[in-house]
Amino acid sequence: MRTFAIAVSVAALALSLVGPASADPIIIKFSHVVATDTPKGKGAEKFKELAEKYTGGKVKVEVYPNSTLYKDKEELEALQLGSVQMLAPSNSKFGPLGIREFEVFDLPYILPDLKTLRKVTEGPLGAKLLKLLDAKGITGLAYWDNGFKQMSANKKLVTPADYQGVKFRIQSSRVLQAQFKALSSLPQVMAFSEVYQALQTGVVDGQENTWSNIYTQKMHEVQKYITETNHGYIGYVVIVNKKFWDDLPADIRDQLSKAMKEATAFSNAQSQKENDDALAEIKKSGKSEIIKLTPEQDEAMRKAMEPVYKDAASRVGQSLIDEFQKEAKSTTN
Ligand code: LMR
Repeated sequence: MRTFAIAVSVAALALSLVGPASADPIIIKFSHVVATDTPKGKGAEKFKELAEKYTGGKVKVEVYPNSTLYKDKEELEALQLGSVQMLAPSNSKFGPLGIREFEVFDLPYILPDLKTLRKVTEGPLGAKLLKLLDAKGITGLAYWDNGFKQMSANKKLVTPADYQGVKFRIQSSRVLQAQFKALSSLPQVMAFSEVYQALQTGVVDGQENTWSNIYTQKMHEVQKYITETNHGYIGYVVIVNKKFWDDLPADIRDQLSKAMKEATAFSNAQSQKENDDALAEIKKSGKSEIIKLTPEQDEAMRKAMEPVYKDAASRVGQSLIDEFQKEAKSTTN
């Protein structure tokens, strides 16, 4: 009896020193397709840092960059299945899920600058679009920037006529498909991770992307020319599996929301610089010739792409396009 009592008090003492076994952390797998050294890559790392800090280690965020876990289309399916908890796909990638509205961001020249973009994403339309994700078992948490797209190819792209018959890789967006059809090019949907090789082997002749994506994927090493068109925008919607998010303890969800808010501010504050730095590096490498358009050439490109708006109206809805343009033009804030 005495031995038993001693054993119990030794065990109690040991427990009081060590404390109860700590619960396993909640794991958030955050998968994305770009390099770490990009606006999205850095945003994901910032979120990890803040989420782990604010939850005192109760949440562990595992970031998988560069399509190491999933490619474009697969990642959305994996999120719906709960195999991955967090993603940040570009606006152009929601069409295959049956959500066409985010393709409004793909309309050529719809956004003159990032300040205008912010009016839309931070306004009522931005919130309304995020809500559309609920029905697909997805919760939209934030909008993250990348920046404006440039056109690249192995031939000089200056006038709209230069685009005729050129095979372009596109993201899975019908609006982007219409854009290249308006230029009489041949668009081909392809996962981001496959673009470099497709350009290298001539499966496609060209592509459109931001400076940071072009540089970090080394696309400039396999494209002779990049035309500075700034014709379209790439940005992201940070999303989580809805059930996972709703089932989190409220205090943890609050800390993660706070981490996301700050990571968003961080990421969006430096996206422009990421793209400017990447452009500078591409220039320094001398591997691609960078073509600037004259105002007349720019005007001709805008004109050639105008029919895309009509085409998109039947896809994303004319009222959405009107609402988008109205918010973009609003002078408040
Ligand atoms: C692309 O597929 O070109 C981009 O959406 C990749 C990305 O996530 O920036």
